[in-house]
Amino acid sequence: NLSTPSSAPSLSPSPVILSQDELKKIAAYKAVEFVQSGMVVGLGTGSTAKHAVDRIADLLNQGKLKDIVGIPTSKQTHQQASSLGIPLSDLDTHPTVDLAIDGADEVDPDLNLVKGRGGSLLREKMIEGAARKFVVIVDESKWVPYVGASGAMPVEVVPFCSKYTQDCLQKIFEYAGCVAELRTLSGGQPFLTDNGNHIVNLFFKSDVGDLRAASDAIHRLPGVIEHGMFIGMATAVIVAGESGVTVKNK
Ligand code: 5RP
Repeated sequence: NLSTPSSAPSLSPSPVILSQDELKKIAAYKAVEFVQSGMVVGLGTGSTAKHAVDRIADLLNQGKLKDIVGIPTSKQTHQQASSLGIPLSDLDTHPTVDLAIDGADEVDPDLNLVKGRGGSLLREKMIEGAARKFVVIVDESKWVPYVGASGAMPVEVVPFCSKYTQDCLQKIFEYAGCVAELRTLSGGQPFLTDNGNHIVNLFFKSDVGDLRAASDAIHRLPGVIEHGMFIGMATAVIVAGESGVTVKNK
């Protein structure tokens, strides 16, 4: 469990309407309060995690944090963190991550997540899976009643015959009204992940039910590399909303 550090500021309700980006920043800054000098920190990807990386860099520059090693979850985050001067490494050199901080596309009532709409789910899952603590940072729009309720659940697949893998995925989840679509760029060509793979987006019309069974069924398909359901991985979820910021522990 993560307990709130005593130095943590508490937000009182304010009449000011905060933008979604301001809420993301509040959640991100709150998460960075859990970073301590000497830690190996998993650096997430996306517009929320970007604020956490900025904040870690600020604290390093101010001398308030020392000896941080960042493990970026994407090329994009690697670029951001290295340009800010955060010392970086990888799982080969640092196989244990003290704390990972990342956003999410969806959070369900059991703190299961959908991640990867930004395309970085594989590296995120590897690094966050290696973390002793994984803190998720979201604005309140990310709450969903069940996984897949608000949009795509991405699956990273090998490019070889990805249409075949896409069709197999759709068939597996026929019972939940699944529509599987290859993620493409504006020119129509397949989106390529940092690992050179394709993404198949799964859209469900209803709850898929048992998430671990769904995960196993996806993993049994040979063309699949990884999916964007992060089941039971979050240690805590920090949610920023109009009424303040809350930390939900697993
Ligand atoms: C990227 C991710 C992101 O964490 C997720 O898409 C949330 O992004 P944002 O913070 O921009 O809303 O999984 O692959």
